[in-house]
Amino acid sequence: MLELGDPRLRRVAEEVPPEAFGGDALRQLVNDLIDTMRDRNGAGIAAPQIGVNQRVFVVEVGENPRYPYKPRIPLTVLINPSLTVLGDERISVIEGCLSVPNLRGRVNRAARVELRAFDVDGRPFHIGAEGLSAGTMQHELDHLDGLLFVDHVTDPTTMTTWANYEAYQADEFSKQAAEINRRYPSPLTITSKP
Ligand code: NI
Repeated sequence: MLELGDPRLRRVAEEVPPEAFGGDALRQLVNDLIDTMRDRNGAGIAAPQIGVNQRVFVVEVGENPRYPYKPRIPLTVLINPSLTVLGDERISVIEGCLSVPNLRGRVNRAARVELRAFDVDGRPFHIGAEGLSAGTMQHELDHLDGLLFVDHVTDPTTMTTWANYEAYQADEFSKQAAEINRRYPSPLTITSKP
């Protein structure tokens, strides 16, 4: 896992070329991402975080000890994704990142987004995401453009270790997250995937 300060996290990743779809190398990369994400209890992980400079990320939220307030989302693999912000509603969330060890901080994210991407076999699909899941998608897409959540922290005094998040912020933020989940009840809508 590459960590904050590694210049490889700051590159703009390259598109996966058409000939790579359906191939063993891409499948292996995706499997590595899934294994690493699950192993570390991430809600998502992007290829640059494991040192692969390609536009690939995966997301999945089940029962997650790092993010107990996040709505569940199924395992989804996004290759060469593009993201469009829908509307101007924003949510304020406390994020963390496997590449930013032991730190969390408050950022603003668009409340509704849509993404177009390809699966590992090159089939296009469309995702609508809202609320906390929309934030997750923006966080992961940022990794493909060399951005980290710390770049979006406008108030540095919100930065906290995970232990101090639990001690001082978790109660309040869990309530805020529950309110976001009420307001945005459809975390992820995947369409036109075969
Ligand atoms: Ni991250």
